[in-house]
Amino acid sequence: MSYVYGAIAIVWLALLSWGIYKLVVGYILPPSHFPKNIPTIPFYFTLIPLFKDVDQEALWHKYMKKPLTEYGAVKIYFGGAWNVLVTRPAFINQVFKQDDIFPKAGNHVKNPQSILALYTGENVISTINDQWRTFASIVKPGLQADVDTSIIVKNAQKLVDLLLEEQKQKGSVVMPKPLQDYTLANLSEALLGASFNTLGNTNAPMSTLQSAIKPKIFNPFYLNFPFLDHFKIPSREQARRLVIEFKAKLSDIVLSGHQHKHPEGMDSNHLGCRLVTAYETGIINRYHFQQNCLSMFLAGHENPQILLLSMMRMLAEHQDLQKQLREQILALPEEDRMNPHVLAEIPLLTATIYETLRLYPPISQLLNRRTEQDVMLGENILLKKGTYLGYNGYTTNRDTEFWGADSHEFRPSRWGSNSEDIQMLFRKASSKSTFISFHGGRRTCLGIKFAMMGARVSMAMFLTKLEWKLDPSWPRRMTPAGPLMPRMLKLQFTSLESEKA
Ligand code: HEM
Repeated sequence: MSYVYGAIAIVWLALLSWGIYKLVVGYILPPSHFPKNIPTIPFYFTLIPLFKDVDQEALWHKYMKKPLTEYGAVKIYFGGAWNVLVTRPAFINQVFKQDDIFPKAGNHVKNPQSILALYTGENVISTINDQWRTFASIVKPGLQADVDTSIIVKNAQKLVDLLLEEQKQKGSVVMPKPLQDYTLANLSEALLGASFNTLGNTNAPMSTLQSAIKPKIFNPFYLNFPFLDHFKIPSREQARRLVIEFKAKLSDIVLSGHQHKHPEGMDSNHLGCRLVTAYETGIINRYHFQQNCLSMFLAGHENPQILLLSMMRMLAEHQDLQKQLREQILALPEEDRMNPHVLAEIPLLTATIYETLRLYPPISQLLNRRTEQDVMLGENILLKKGTYLGYNGYTTNRDTEFWGADSHEFRPSRWGSNSEDIQMLFRKASSKSTFISFHGGRRTCLGIKFAMMGARVSMAMFLTKLEWKLDPSWPRRMTPAGPLMPRMLKLQFTSLESEKA
């Protein structure tokens, strides 16, 4: 009998050892074919926010700054896989230029069963080759056309009123939600032609659904162990249903808002019209219509929201700059103050936007590529075929060789003092991949024009109507994980109009 117990014990021990071995080899250590000549960020790094209330900027300083600055690339566990995170501008340049060797391979490729993949799916940002060309040909003319800026002006005025109302009631304003509602209103009304009705409406479905989904999608536990989405865990099934409901609701709003107001169809420059026509004429199917609406929804409001959050924080911390910008905008004839073309000629405003984007890129890190073949990154980092990799703009944009020893400081004047110099530096830094906030190369952001216009008009409105400073109780902390931004930024506003009265 004791032989039987002994044998069972041995089998159990063997299974346990095999399990531990698989865990160590499969998760805790990078795969053996990963390059040995770059450092490894400890496995537990991305799990820290699960156990501790952290500030990811502080984490970057502690764990990432040194290896990334010295080597320009590290091995890091994220999203259920080991990846190579690339930051040295020369390496990034190679990745962006050799798009065919380092093609995008987002969530739908990496973890197709995950709820994150169900959410983001195949769209103009995530796909490659012919599929990307089809999607880009639909959205590009819509994103690069001139939009009706009076919509942004109207929404910005409404936001100012809401901020002042909240200031009056609560003595300060927690900024992420009002800015989310504002950027959603701009995107839906100016680009999609279908109002999400978010501004001043606490029950707007797109906003409440999005707020319910976000914590589920970006739950660090499932982000790091997406294989768990193979199992029918009740809370994850609920998240799955929410995502399906959200996508259906979004595409219904885009469809119903359109109603053939632009009969030119695919000859129209209206983004909403182009998406709807492409679906109705069979250029894309329902799934791709939904996913492209969703990609516009996410890229079109989240990035502008984060940019405004970071910029309002910067101007709260640099009162002299806030004052200078206000004076320059107020010096314009009243009818020009919200004109994006006139605002584009205020060098300090453009430099402030670029400097904020440089230090705080809204997409601070993205691991969404995979090598198509064995390739040498730089001169001596061998990446085998099938290696996941990505970039970290927060690090790259602070490259001291290009930006100088003060690259971590907020100094808009580094961009130059006239529009020509500023644009020249923008082009140079983009082409050398030392400023990658809008990505670069063939897959550069298609929404730059809309984003810059929105940032200029929004800031012009805020600066002419409001003065603001940090609420002294705000603890100056950044988000613990996900997009890097000031966490629950709290500001105090004064109305410039009531001051005048
Ligand atoms: C401050 C604002 C913005 C920033 C910093 C930003 C940044 C980026 C970045 C880094 C990428 C590359 C993503 C990747 O590696 O996969 C990207 C791609 C893209 N963005 Fe933006 N974005 C902004 C605003 C917008 C807006 C407002 C829209 C549209 C409404 C938009 C539409 C797109 C599209 C369509 C792509 C895919 C381009 C392609 O792969 O061909 N973006 N953006």
